[in-house]
Amino acid sequence: MRNRINQLKNEINELTAASMEELEALRIKYISKKGEITTLFNDFREVANEEKREVGQLLNDLKNAAQDKINELKESFSGNNEADQKSDLTRTADPIKLGTRHPLSLVKNEIIDIFARIGFTIAEGPEIEDDWHVFSALNFPPEHPARDMQDTFFIEQNPDVVLRTHTSSVQTRIMSNQKPPIRMLFPGRVYRNEAISYRAHCFFHQVEGLYIDKDVSFADLKQALMYFAKEMFGPETQIRLRPSYFPFTEPSAEMDISCNLCGGKGCPFCKHTGWVEILGCGMVDPNVLSGVGIDPEAYTGFAFGLGVDRIAMLRYEGITSIKLFYENDPRFLGCFRR
Ligand code: DAH
Repeated sequence: MRNRINQLKNEINELTAASMEELEALRIKYISKKGEITTLFNDFREVANEEKREVGQLLNDLKNAAQDKINELKESFSGNNEADQKSDLTRTADPIKLGTRHPLSLVKNEIIDIFARIGFTIAEGPEIEDDWHVFSALNFPPEHPARDMQDTFFIEQNPDVVLRTHTSSVQTRIMSNQKPPIRMLFPGRVYRNEAISYRAHCFFHQVEGLYIDKDVSFADLKQALMYFAKEMFGPETQIRLRPSYFPFTEPSAEMDISCNLCGGKGCPFCKHTGWVEILGCGMVDPNVLSGVGIDPEAYTGFAFGLGVDRIAMLRYEGITSIKLFYENDPRFLGCFRR
């Protein structure tokens, strides 16, 4: 009896099954009513009385070991193993983790929506541009100091190829190919060879606006920008236009909005002035119009270029560094859902 128990114990330790059917056969062989272990229990009657206690213990251990082994093999086939879960077509699907839109895309789309309501459509242009589209056509003569306003990335092999420093280059492309009226926005990424700080980066985003038609005036420009500022930052927002200089507009201005982080009282973001600059603008210079074949006697137009990153920092109060937009930290990016 003891030998038989030991022998079965070894057998059971070694058991493997390649399928549920094989496992069921093993269950029947060992622990069903007619199984080998059950039979041993029947033979137990014949064991000498003084041995009954010890042999009984061994027999019980054997039965438990067999049951455990069979359960263990069963688990490897049923729901707990991954391969099997995949083939269970009735299982509820795992939730799909949805990504979130980048805050700069959210703000860009909002800018586009606001101007779309007053008839602006969209076009895009290349980030790698030639000198003519970025500078010359926009009235920056060669060697003119105005070129220094934007620290440009050039390549050594060909000084004519630049990374565009502003989306104004798309104005040139569109005006060369389309006849007025033109009422369009040009969103995109721009590059400048600037030191990286919490307010500036070597690349950032702009949305350029252009409106050319008969009788477009500076008052139209001001009205469009005021409408934008109030839609974007709330009806209480104030705007202020300061005279400025850009080679491609005359007259030119920069527009500030009342700082919505401190409500105009003054804070580090607005450098304690209560105002934050968000865009440059002006009336398209007649030289630029004639350079692209539009008659400046018949048409006038306004243009503006706004910085998406700056607007996003104002919009989502508390983004204290532009660098956060480019670090791709999921803890930051996950905060913006829409
Ligand atoms: N391109 C200018 C810049 O990046 C911004 C700008 C100023 C765009 C005046 C315009 C404009 O269209 O009219 O600094």
